[in-house]
Amino acid sequence: MAVPAIPNVPPGDGLAVELTDAEVGLFREQGFLSIDRLTSEVEIAELLGIYDALFEPGAAIGENDRLELAGGPDEAPVLPQIVNPDHYAPELLLTVAYRNAQTIARQILGDDMSPMGMHAIRKPPRDGGATPWHQDEAYWDPGMDHHAISIWMPLQPVTIENGCMQFVPGTHTSEVQEHRLINPDSHGLVVTHPESVGHAVACPLPAGGATIHASRTLHYAGPNTTDQPRRALIMAFAAPPTRRATARSFPWQRPEWAS
Ligand code: NI
Repeated sequence: MAVPAIPNVPPGDGLAVELTDAEVGLFREQGFLSIDRLTSEVEIAELLGIYDALFEPGAAIGENDRLELAGGPDEAPVLPQIVNPDHYAPELLLTVAYRNAQTIARQILGDDMSPMGMHAIRKPPRDGGATPWHQDEAYWDPGMDHHAISIWMPLQPVTIENGCMQFVPGTHTSEVQEHRLINPDSHGLVVTHPESVGHAVACPLPAGGATIHASRTLHYAGPNTTDQPRRALIMAFAAPPTRRATARSFPWQRPEWAS
Protein backbone atom coordinates (compact mmCIF):
# COMPACT_ATOMS: atom_id res chain seq x y z
CA MET A 1 0.00 0.00 0.00
CA ALA A 2 1.33 3.45 -0.84
CA VAL A 3 2.27 5.47 2.19
CA PRO A 4 0.89 9.01 2.20
CA ALA A 5 3.34 11.90 2.24
CA ILE A 6 4.28 13.23 5.63
CA PRO A 7 1.93 16.10 6.43
CA ASN A 8 3.36 19.56 6.54
CA VAL A 9 3.19 20.26 10.25
CA PRO A 10 3.94 23.91 11.09
CA PRO A 11 6.95 24.52 13.36
CA GLY A 12 5.91 24.44 16.96
CA ASP A 13 2.93 22.18 16.28
CA GLY A 14 4.26 19.18 18.09
CA LEU A 15 7.68 18.16 19.06
CA ALA A 16 10.54 17.48 16.66
CA VAL A 17 12.70 14.64 17.94
CA GLU A 18 16.00 13.52 16.49
CA LEU A 19 18.75 11.39 17.94
CA THR A 20 22.08 12.83 19.03
CA ASP A 21 25.24 11.36 17.49
CA ALA A 22 25.88 9.69 20.85
CA GLU A 23 22.44 8.03 20.74
CA VAL A 24 23.01 6.77 17.19
CA GLY A 25 26.41 5.43 18.33
CA LEU A 26 24.83 3.69 21.32
CA PHE A 27 22.20 2.11 19.04
CA ARG A 28 24.92 0.77 16.73
CA GLU A 29 26.88 -0.58 19.69
CA GLN A 30 24.11 -2.31 21.64
CA GLY A 31 21.41 -2.92 19.01
CA PHE A 32 18.72 -0.97 20.84
CA LEU A 33 18.02 2.43 22.30
CA SER A 34 15.49 3.85 24.73
CA ILE A 35 14.29 7.46 24.45
CA ASP A 36 11.99 9.24 26.88
CA ARG A 37 9.98 11.16 24.31
CA LEU A 38 8.81 10.39 20.79
CA THR A 39 5.65 12.47 21.06
CA SER A 40 3.74 14.67 23.49
CA GLU A 41 1.39 13.58 26.24
CA VAL A 42 -1.33 15.56 24.45
CA GLU A 43 -0.97 13.41 21.34
CA ILE A 44 -0.85 10.23 23.42
CA ALA A 45 -4.16 11.23 25.04
CA GLU A 46 -5.66 11.70 21.57
CA LEU A 47 -4.32 8.35 20.37
CA LEU A 48 -5.75 6.31 23.24
CA GLY A 49 -9.33 6.40 21.97
CA ILE A 50 -8.31 5.67 18.38
CA TYR A 51 -6.16 2.76 19.50
CA ASP A 52 -8.69 1.18 21.85
CA ALA A 53 -11.45 1.40 19.22
CA LEU A 54 -9.39 -0.89 16.96
CA PHE A 55 -9.50 -3.63 19.60
CA GLU A 56 -13.27 -3.45 20.23
CA PRO A 57 -14.89 -6.80 19.39
CA GLY A 58 -17.04 -5.22 16.66
CA ALA A 59 -14.23 -3.25 14.99
CA ALA A 60 -14.10 -3.84 11.22
CA ILE A 61 -10.61 -5.30 11.09
CA GLY A 62 -9.75 -7.69 8.27
CA GLU A 63 -9.36 -11.30 9.34
CA ASN A 64 -5.73 -11.36 8.22
CA ASP A 65 -4.93 -8.22 10.19
CA ARG A 66 -6.22 -9.51 13.53
CA LEU A 67 -3.72 -12.01 14.84
CA GLU A 68 -3.36 -13.91 18.07
CA LEU A 69 0.34 -14.18 18.81
CA ALA A 70 0.31 -16.72 21.58
CA GLY A 71 -3.04 -18.34 22.45
CA GLY A 72 -4.89 -21.12 20.68
CA PRO A 73 -8.11 -20.65 18.66
CA ASP A 74 -10.44 -21.59 21.52
CA GLU A 75 -8.78 -19.50 24.21
CA ALA A 76 -9.50 -15.94 25.29
CA PRO A 77 -7.06 -13.51 23.67
CA VAL A 78 -3.67 -13.69 25.36
CA LEU A 79 -1.60 -11.53 23.08
CA PRO A 80 -3.91 -9.84 20.56
CA GLN A 81 -2.21 -7.99 17.74
CA ILE A 82 -3.61 -5.80 14.97
CA VAL A 83 -1.47 -5.57 11.86
CA ASN A 84 -1.72 -2.44 9.71
CA PRO A 85 -3.77 -0.41 12.25
CA ASP A 86 -3.10 2.63 10.04
CA HIS A 87 -5.27 1.06 7.29
CA TYR A 88 -8.24 1.36 9.68
CA ALA A 89 -7.16 4.56 11.46
CA PRO A 90 -5.23 6.58 8.84
CA GLU A 91 -4.84 9.40 11.33
CA LEU A 92 -2.03 7.31 12.84
CA LEU A 93 0.03 8.31 9.79
CA LEU A 94 -0.53 11.99 10.54
CA THR A 95 0.86 11.94 14.05
CA VAL A 96 3.91 13.69 15.41
CA ALA A 97 4.98 10.28 16.71
CA TYR A 98 5.11 8.85 13.19
CA ARG A 99 6.87 11.90 11.80
CA ASN A 100 9.53 11.68 14.52
CA ALA A 101 9.85 7.92 14.01
CA GLN A 102 10.62 8.54 10.33
CA THR A 103 13.30 11.09 11.27
CA ILE A 104 14.94 8.53 13.56
CA ALA A 105 14.67 5.79 10.93
CA ARG A 106 16.45 8.02 8.41
CA GLN A 107 19.21 8.73 10.92
CA ILE A 108 19.81 5.02 11.53
CA LEU A 109 19.02 3.45 8.15
CA GLY A 110 19.77 6.26 5.69
CA ASP A 111 17.65 8.18 3.22
CA ASP A 112 16.66 5.07 1.25
CA MET A 113 14.69 3.66 4.17
CA SER A 114 11.00 2.92 3.67
CA PRO A 115 8.16 2.60 6.16
CA MET A 116 7.29 -1.09 6.58
CA GLY A 117 4.00 -0.65 8.37
CA MET A 118 2.66 -0.51 11.86
CA HIS A 119 1.26 -2.99 14.29
CA ALA A 120 -0.45 -2.71 17.65
CA ILE A 121 -0.21 -5.13 20.58
CA ARG A 122 -2.62 -4.60 23.46
CA LYS A 123 -1.90 -6.84 26.42
CA PRO A 124 -5.01 -7.40 28.52
CA PRO A 125 -4.83 -6.56 32.24
CA ARG A 126 -3.88 -9.35 34.64
CA ASP A 127 -3.79 -12.17 32.13
CA GLY A 128 -1.82 -10.67 29.25
CA GLY A 129 0.87 -13.16 28.29
CA ALA A 130 4.55 -12.51 27.75
CA THR A 131 5.88 -11.67 24.31
CA PRO A 132 8.58 -14.32 24.46
CA TRP A 133 12.21 -13.96 23.40
CA HIS A 134 12.64 -13.62 19.66
CA GLN A 135 14.46 -11.86 16.83
CA ASP A 136 12.20 -10.10 14.31
CA GLU A 137 14.31 -11.31 11.37
CA ALA A 138 13.16 -14.89 12.17
CA TYR A 139 9.80 -13.90 10.59
CA TRP A 140 11.34 -12.65 7.36
CA ASP A 141 12.85 -13.94 4.07
CA PRO A 142 15.80 -16.17 5.01
CA GLY A 143 17.43 -15.50 1.65
CA MET A 144 18.07 -11.85 2.45
CA ASP A 145 20.01 -9.84 4.99
CA HIS A 146 17.62 -7.32 6.49
CA HIS A 147 18.47 -3.77 7.51
CA ALA A 148 15.46 -2.86 9.58
CA ILE A 149 14.37 -1.28 12.84
CA SER A 150 11.23 -1.27 14.94
CA ILE A 151 10.19 1.74 16.99
CA TRP A 152 7.99 0.63 19.89
CA MET A 153 5.92 3.34 21.61
CA PRO A 154 3.78 2.72 24.71
CA LEU A 155 0.52 4.65 25.18
CA GLN A 156 0.84 4.54 28.97
CA PRO A 157 3.88 4.30 31.22
CA VAL A 158 5.54 0.89 30.98
CA THR A 159 7.44 -0.99 33.66
CA ILE A 160 8.56 -4.60 34.08
CA GLU A 161 5.17 -5.23 35.78
CA ASN A 162 3.06 -4.34 32.73
CA GLY A 163 5.40 -5.60 30.04
CA CYS A 164 8.05 -3.07 29.02
CA MET A 165 10.53 -4.12 26.37
CA GLN A 166 13.70 -5.99 27.33
CA PHE A 167 16.75 -6.53 25.14
CA VAL A 168 20.00 -8.48 25.13
CA PRO A 169 22.75 -6.00 24.20
CA GLY A 170 24.99 -6.94 21.28
CA THR A 171 22.75 -9.63 19.79
CA HIS A 172 22.04 -7.43 16.72
CA THR A 173 25.38 -8.58 15.27
CA SER A 174 24.73 -12.31 15.88
CA GLU A 175 22.99 -14.73 13.53
CA VAL A 176 19.31 -15.58 13.76
CA GLN A 177 18.85 -18.29 16.37
CA GLU A 178 16.56 -21.31 16.00
CA HIS A 179 12.90 -20.36 16.64
CA ARG A 180 9.58 -22.19 16.93
CA LEU A 181 5.92 -21.14 17.00
CA ILE A 182 4.77 -20.23 20.54
CA ASN A 183 1.76 -22.47 20.00
CA PRO A 184 1.07 -24.48 16.80
CA ASP A 185 -2.00 -22.33 16.05
CA SER A 186 -0.41 -18.99 16.92
CA HIS A 187 1.45 -16.49 14.78
CA GLY A 188 4.20 -15.65 17.26
CA LEU A 189 7.73 -17.05 17.44
CA VAL A 190 10.00 -17.83 20.37
CA VAL A 191 13.65 -18.86 20.37
CA THR A 192 14.00 -22.58 20.98
CA HIS A 193 16.43 -22.03 23.86
CA PRO A 194 15.16 -18.96 25.76
CA GLU A 195 17.12 -20.06 28.84
CA SER A 196 20.38 -19.15 27.12
CA VAL A 197 19.59 -15.68 25.79
CA GLY A 198 21.98 -13.93 28.18
CA HIS A 199 21.74 -10.79 30.30
CA ALA A 200 18.71 -8.65 29.47
CA VAL A 201 18.24 -4.92 29.94
CA ALA A 202 14.67 -3.78 30.76
CA CYS A 203 13.52 -0.42 29.36
CA PRO A 204 10.78 1.23 31.45
CA LEU A 205 9.35 4.29 29.69
CA PRO A 206 6.85 7.11 30.13
CA ALA A 207 3.82 7.23 27.82
CA GLY A 208 5.02 8.53 24.46
CA GLY A 209 8.61 7.40 24.95
CA ALA A 210 10.01 4.71 22.69
CA THR A 211 12.47 1.90 22.28
CA ILE A 212 14.22 1.29 18.98
CA HIS A 213 15.68 -2.10 18.08
CA ALA A 214 17.36 -3.78 15.14
CA SER A 215 16.06 -6.81 13.26
CA ARG A 216 18.32 -9.33 15.02
CA THR A 217 18.28 -7.83 18.52
CA LEU A 218 16.87 -10.43 20.93
CA HIS A 219 13.87 -8.94 22.72
CA TYR A 220 11.08 -9.82 25.11
CA ALA A 221 8.22 -8.16 26.97
CA GLY A 222 6.84 -9.70 30.16
CA PRO A 223 3.20 -10.41 30.98
CA ASN A 224 0.95 -7.58 32.07
CA THR A 225 0.31 -8.12 35.78
CA THR A 226 -1.38 -4.73 36.33
CA ASP A 227 -5.06 -3.71 36.28
CA GLN A 228 -4.78 -1.69 33.06
CA PRO A 229 -4.21 -2.81 29.46
CA ARG A 230 -0.67 -2.34 28.14
CA ARG A 231 -0.90 -0.65 24.77
CA ALA A 232 2.02 -0.40 22.35
CA LEU A 233 2.20 0.95 18.81
CA ILE A 234 5.08 -0.43 16.76
CA MET A 235 6.36 1.37 13.66
CA ALA A 236 8.73 -0.53 11.36
CA PHE A 237 11.22 0.80 8.82
CA ALA A 238 13.79 -0.84 6.53
CA ALA A 239 16.52 0.01 4.07
CA PRO A 240 16.51 -2.30 1.02
CA PRO A 241 17.51 -5.85 2.02
CA THR A 242 20.56 -7.45 0.42
CA ARG A 243 20.69 -10.99 -0.96
CA ARG A 244 22.82 -13.40 1.03
CA ALA A 245 25.49 -15.47 -0.67
CA THR A 246 24.00 -18.50 1.08
CA ALA A 247 20.31 -18.62 1.95
CA ARG A 248 19.32 -19.73 5.43
CA SER A 249 16.53 -22.13 6.31
CA PHE A 250 13.82 -20.91 8.69
CA PRO A 251 11.62 -24.04 8.94
CA TRP A 252 9.57 -22.50 11.78
CA GLN A 253 7.86 -20.02 9.44
CA ARG A 254 4.18 -20.51 8.56
CA PRO A 255 3.70 -21.06 4.81
CA GLU A 256 1.59 -17.92 4.42
CA TRP A 257 4.48 -15.74 5.59
CA ALA A 258 6.38 -16.32 2.34
CA SER A 259 5.78 -13.36 0.07
NI1 NI B 1 9.54 -8.38 17.87
